[in-house]
Amino acid sequence: MTGVAIIGLQWGDEGKGKISYLLSRDAEYVVRFQGGANAGHTVVLDDRELRFNMLPAGSASGAKPCIASGTVVDLSEVLEEIELLKSIGISTQPLISRNACIVLPIHKELDSMIEQIRSSEAIGTTRRGIGPAYSDKALRIGIKIEDLLDSGSLKSKIKLIEDFHKLPVGDIEEWVKLAEKFSGNICDLEIILNDELDRGKKIIFEGAQGTLLDIDQGTYPYVTSSNTTIGAVFTSCGVGPRKISEIIGVMKAYTTRVGAGVFPTELKNREGDILREKGREYGTTTGRPRRVGWLDIPLLRYSIMINSIDWIALTKLDVLGGIRKIKICIEYDINGERVEMAPPNVRTLEKAKPVYIHLDGWSALTREEWKKVAVKGWDALPENAKIYIEIIEKLLSRPIKLVSVGASAGMEVAK
Ligand code: IMO
Ligand code: MG
Repeated sequence: MTGVAIIGLQWGDEGKGKISYLLSRDAEYVVRFQGGANAGHTVVLDDRELRFNMLPAGSASGAKPCIASGTVVDLSEVLEEIELLKSIGISTQPLISRNACIVLPIHKELDSMIEQIRSSEAIGTTRRGIGPAYSDKALRIGIKIEDLLDSGSLKSKIKLIEDFHKLPVGDIEEWVKLAEKFSGNICDLEIILNDELDRGKKIIFEGAQGTLLDIDQGTYPYVTSSNTTIGAVFTSCGVGPRKISEIIGVMKAYTTRVGAGVFPTELKNREGDILREKGREYGTTTGRPRRVGWLDIPLLRYSIMINSIDWIALTKLDVLGGIRKIKICIEYDINGERVEMAPPNVRTLEKAKPVYIHLDGWSALTREEWKKVAVKGWDALPENAKIYIEIIEKLLSRPIKLVSVGASAGMEVAK
């Protein structure tokens, strides 16, 4: 049985979409197990950029897309992304767990309202209704996909939401019609996934957001509203931990964060601006400029520990080309004490002063040159880039088995 989990190790946008696509090519299924349309996963095929918010990006490889119980589903996004897949010749219907809750327009309204009330303490959410949809679920007033197929009970459920929020839910007919379109695909996903794993099929579990945005393990309250870490695979999909044979951590060669919250290695200077432009660090979902900074080893050590990461896929290494001195934060100074690993706790991180090592960079390569590197493999990487990778492996005590040197599929090197 081959269950493979892909987990973001930073604050999201690590390049999970590309890695999921690469690993899904010989998989039967690829599953989104948490979050909703707040995710922005990109796959670039022959210069065509495919953006997924709701379906797993790995489905661009032809693996069957699945949406598990622990997600909050934006049905109109699902429909759009089915069309996106059609446009690349993949005609498929996603399997959706009957237990997944749906995101309603009022959840998006509430998301904006809460952000406004928070004012200067706003989270900077994607305004995709994620927090309110999950909080309705926790309050047990959420609407599950299967409710849309049962008009009798649907009415009373809608009334409960309207009475609670004192806001109209609006025309639910549209949602019922959407759900009817998928009615053949609303299923007991848990049973299907377990059966298929038992039959030896390969299944990719595509994480969204990143470990530091986890509602329990992240920089609360500046986090998303779901668990983004490995445990979510088990609770959301009903697949036991022994069925996952590989846990892969995806990390960028530097750090980014979109939205508010503590960020110890943030670069608020020209160097940061250059990195942002070179890395095209603007949100896939919202277009917002991302905050950028150096690699943060104390936080990555924590992410690797709590997810039981087996190996790492390192992305966007090409972006660092042309930077004369590259820094890595190897530990923090907290009140005069050296700290090698830190939990993403806001109070701790606010006091943390990064301690850096300085490494010599390598010259900027053109896209064509990186393409050649990707064809030739590991040995063709610039010497100082290899040193950078090897130092990270040593600092994190995990192998880096895959290095991405460009957004397109094919622009990567296996080690
Ligand atoms: P992918 O899957 C980066 C951030 C938002 C905000 C916080 C809460 O592309 O890595 P939410 O809308 O979830 O309530 O917002 O989380 N955020 C992400 N940042 N990548 C993502 O997804 C994100 N999804 C949410 O910017 O700070
Ligand atoms: Mg993204």
